[in-house]
Amino acid sequence: MGVYTSLMVSRQKRSIWRRFLSGATVGVAITAALVVPGAQGQEPQAPTASDIAEGLRLYQQKGNCQACHGWSGDGHKTDSQMPDGANLRDTKLNRSGLVTTIKCGRLNSQMPAFDKFAYSDGRCYGKKQADLKSYPTRMPDPPATLQQREIDLIVDFLLAKVVGKGPMDHARCVEFWGSDTAACKEFLK
Ligand code: HEC
Repeated sequence: MGVYTSLMVSRQKRSIWRRFLSGATVGVAITAALVVPGAQGQEPQAPTASDIAEGLRLYQQKGNCQACHGWSGDGHKTDSQMPDGANLRDTKLNRSGLVTTIKCGRLNSQMPAFDKFAYSDGRCYGKKQADLKSYPTRMPDPPATLQQREIDLIVDFLLAKVVGKGPMDHARCVEFWGSDTAACKEFLK
């Protein structure tokens, strides 16, 4: 009987505590959504330095975003044969806008879709492969398709090192690459 009662009490205590905690979490979420600009749709956990480094690698290598957007995202493409990509340093898109653009590409433009299933089941803008024919500008095939996790890492990198960071200069270049690499020499002139 004694054990039973104390079990009841502790269970009750726990559920009160849990209710308090979930209330507190909702409160924090609401405050964050109201106070922090663009907080909606942000990842709950801050990316680690290694997430950002992995995102940088995916941007430069597997996704080959640099071919059209430049290694620093400023729109100075590294491949002159490629279409002119947008200046990602100046983009107004928030996290979810960035994720959608990378997954789905942009209709009627040369921004490719990196989600393998982007136009197979209507997940992107409600369109299927056949619908894409009606646009004068066809999206090119992506250099590689990317998993959701890889896209999230690229967006972690973009938000940490590219979006809203101003034009590249020598100090930012060293910070970007983590050392004074050859790419940074051009900013010393
Ligand atoms: C084949 C060239 C090409 C490649 C590769 C490419 N992009 Fe783009 N991207 C473009 C073009 C062109 C636009 C501008 C589309 C338009 O006209 O709105 C664009 C637009 C964007 C935008 C929208 C910017 C804005 O403010 O509206 C984002 C974000 C973006 N690209 C991210 C990426 C990322 C990240 C990668 C690599 C995973 C990538 N792009 C690879 C060509 C490319």
